[in-house]
Amino acid sequence: TRLRSSSASSQSHLLRRSYSSDSVPERKVAVLGAAGGIGQPLSLLMKLNPLVSKLALYDIAGTPGVAADVSHVNTRSEVAGYAGEEQLGKALEGSDIVIIPAGVPRKPGMTRDDLFNINAGIVKSLCTAIAKYCPNALVNMISNPVNSTVPIAAEVFKKAGTYDEKKLFGVTTLDVVRAKTFYAGKAKVPVEEVNVPVVGGHAGITILPLFSQAVPKANLADEDIKALTKRTQDGGTEVVEAKAGKGSATLSMAYAGALFADACLKGLNGVPDVVECTFVQSSVTELPFFASKVKLGKNGVEEVLELGPMSDYEKQGLQNLIPELKASIEKGIKFANQ
Ligand code: NAI
Repeated sequence: TRLRSSSASSQSHLLRRSYSSDSVPERKVAVLGAAGGIGQPLSLLMKLNPLVSKLALYDIAGTPGVAADVSHVNTRSEVAGYAGEEQLGKALEGSDIVIIPAGVPRKPGMTRDDLFNINAGIVKSLCTAIAKYCPNALVNMISNPVNSTVPIAAEVFKKAGTYDEKKLFGVTTLDVVRAKTFYAGKAKVPVEEVNVPVVGGHAGITILPLFSQAVPKANLADEDIKALTKRTQDGGTEVVEAKAGKGSATLSMAYAGALFADACLKGLNGVPDVVECTFVQSSVTELPFFASKVKLGKNGVEEVLELGPMSDYEKQGLQNLIPELKASIEKGIKFANQ
């Protein structure tokens, strides 16, 4: 009734205001490890995202420069840099999404698990701060080994009493990005039309692309599917070796991380039918965490989707990956509780 009795001009003003705040709400995104190989291009890509209104760039050092640089880009978000642990709280406060690419990357000959000793501690301390300063934020975990760092984060949040399984994600988008690219090349179909679910985890054989569900359909030979599967599983190693000691995937990872964060933002904003593969708490297999297609919504995970029909080769791949993924999950849980 108040709205009805008000003048036409203030009515349209009200409508306009409620419309604009409904369509593009304020959203703060924090990047932890923002001065790193992934962190820098990821910060730039998040600055290009019109759904972000505040961008907080945190690292142990180097963020004032990255933030000054990125802040000159003429897009919506306000950028601030935070350096050193005493500024972590400020960086996190009010965040809707926290993206974590902090930690050391692989060198040639290393597995992701070789990073455990350093990165597990970094993730544990960052998640302790998240529980304190922005317990409701969606957490996008990029730091490897993702198969263990996500369970570590879950344990830290449980101890702090803030755990919400709908808000914790291991970022496996790069596996999907790679599977799409490699499939398009082999099947000779336009890459922008390709979709391929990738399930399991994010290391070696735990990465299981489901090419039997790939669209557009292509009649690839069994050997081609095997080669594509292997290349997707070894995609990270391909980059590590090509960089020859200068780190792992950073540019394609920044792209993948930005895609996943954008999907989370859309979900938070109520965009319907946002579906991405991601490593989450799950009951689609016997394991407590598993990557599969997940529907994203206003509270994070809206629905963890089933794996769907698989070929015999994929069913075998699933059986093969379970022991390794189980061990990595347990290693993370054990670390967090020691
Ligand atoms: P990098 O060494 O270039 O950058 C890491 C950044 O983290 C550095 O700026 C460092 O100062 C920062 N850092 C270290 N300790 C920190 C702390 N306690 N708080 C905040 N920041 C801290 O490494 P890069 O190449 O950016 O990789 C980062 C992580 O991402 C690695 O663990 C790597 O294995 C992982 N990764 C994950 C992928 C995925 O698909 N999920 C793909 C590629 C890499």
